[in-house]
Amino acid sequence: MDSLAVLILAAGKGKRMKSHLPKVVAIADGLPLVQHVLCAAAPLHPERTVIVTGHMREVVEETVEKGANFGLYPREGISFAQQVQQLGTGDAARAALASLEGFSGPVVILYGDVPLLTTGTLRQMIELHNREKATVTIVSALTENPHGYGRIVRDSTGKYAERVVETKDCSPEELQIKEINSGLYVVDSAFLKPALEDLTNDNAQGEYYLTDIIRKATTEGQTVSVLQLTAIEEVLGVNDPVELSRAGQILRRRRLEDLLREGVIFEDPDTAYVDRGVLIKGGARIGPSVQLRGRTQIEEEVVIEGNAYLVDTTVHRGARVKFGVRTESSTIGERAQVGPFAHLRPGSELGEEVKIGNFVETKKASLAKGAAASHLTYLGDCEVGEGSNIGAGVITCNYDGAAKHKTIIEANVFVGSNSSLVAPVTVEEGSTIGAGSTITKKVAKGTLALTRAALVVKEGYIRKTKKN
Ligand code: UD1
Ligand code: CA
Repeated sequence: MDSLAVLILAAGKGKRMKSHLPKVVAIADGLPLVQHVLCAAAPLHPERTVIVTGHMREVVEETVEKGANFGLYPREGISFAQQVQQLGTGDAARAALASLEGFSGPVVILYGDVPLLTTGTLRQMIELHNREKATVTIVSALTENPHGYGRIVRDSTGKYAERVVETKDCSPEELQIKEINSGLYVVDSAFLKPALEDLTNDNAQGEYYLTDIIRKATTEGQTVSVLQLTAIEEVLGVNDPVELSRAGQILRRRRLEDLLREGVIFEDPDTAYVDRGVLIKGGARIGPSVQLRGRTQIEEEVVIEGNAYLVDTTVHRGARVKFGVRTESSTIGERAQVGPFAHLRPGSELGEEVKIGNFVETKKASLAKGAAASHLTYLGDCEVGEGSNIGAGVITCNYDGAAKHKTIIEANVFVGSNSSLVAPVTVEEGSTIGAGSTITKKVAKGTLALTRAALVVKEGYIRKTKKN
């Protein structure tokens, strides 16, 4: 296949979105619209990708950079062209011409507001273009509700397109046409440049329409081939908040179906939210109302019971995340158990078979194999050695009001319930801390440490009673 250039028009404001941000950075299923379009185009390995920006261009450009940094598509080959005033899609394409200097192959033109687009359709469009030796190829879809889209007027043979008419410019007969322009094009470079330079804005909106290059091509006797899609879904444009939410739902559903086919078990896919950067192995079981965000990775045989929110978290094989858990930038080891109702804050590293029970909060805490904190505990800035047991209500006092300090609990330590460990402090291997102690100094290996006021018992004590 010839080397390709891809042009993405993303300079518009998107007035109908009612947002101060440019439309192409609006989020559908966890990703900005323009990133979805770039994801669909990247597998074509374009030699150049030119993104036309204008309205709040820094925001759009930063969004494009972020997607590349995240690894969604390569940064290489991407450049930006500025459309100074938003005078229409044809004017936007014209703004990219300088960036196409020296390129002579086919140019794929896309709009930044079509997030459901797939690489497969782009490939079909390019194949048709080559097969038909067309000058321009467009993609159409049939719909019962064509309002707002450009209508495709076929030539006398019915095989090719003659022109595209925008809704606002349609005659009453043209308004009846159910075949719409989806806004994906392949155009030969040699034709594109003069065609764009010839555009006029003599139409209902006073804009330079990219779609007018079609009429120009047919007037010159060039072929405009049409790839007709059977379903409009994939080329739904996002123009208002309702369409945005619909596109988000479709994207989410699509991704979940891919995961289901890979053998991931979702008890209720309608309530599962899985970001694009998340990896889940087949055989994992995900209960209702689970959000897997960012770079989360879930290995085989993991069970997430339900109502959980995991961000940038790795859950190793066979671990169980119980009901009501929230985790962030953390690791859960093989066969470890977390929850119900636990909170792993950034830097929590749980080894194999670690047990974190209800109402436990951890932060920058590493727990080695088999360590357990089963109830009502705060572990912050600490290390817990293999097999150590942290009793109910234990607190690492890691903050003195100015700085954070570290607690080190070595292997096989038993920390009795309701103890406070005032950091910096070390509790050495095999030692025991009696319940209710406040530990401020090192506890040596194999010792028992206890800070407890002696029990006072007063015999025959009679409690005062209320007078009625
Ligand atoms: C466009 C097509 C229409 C098609 C529909 C499909 C034209 C004239 N019309 O209409 O035939 O059915 O898409 O979704 O092309 N943009 C710029 N600069 C501008 C104007 C727009 O960069 O000056 C960008 C926008 O950011 C947007 C894209 O171009 O991403 C499409 O613009 P939009 O105004 O949404 O076009 P539609 O009216 O939907
Ligand atoms: Ca649109």
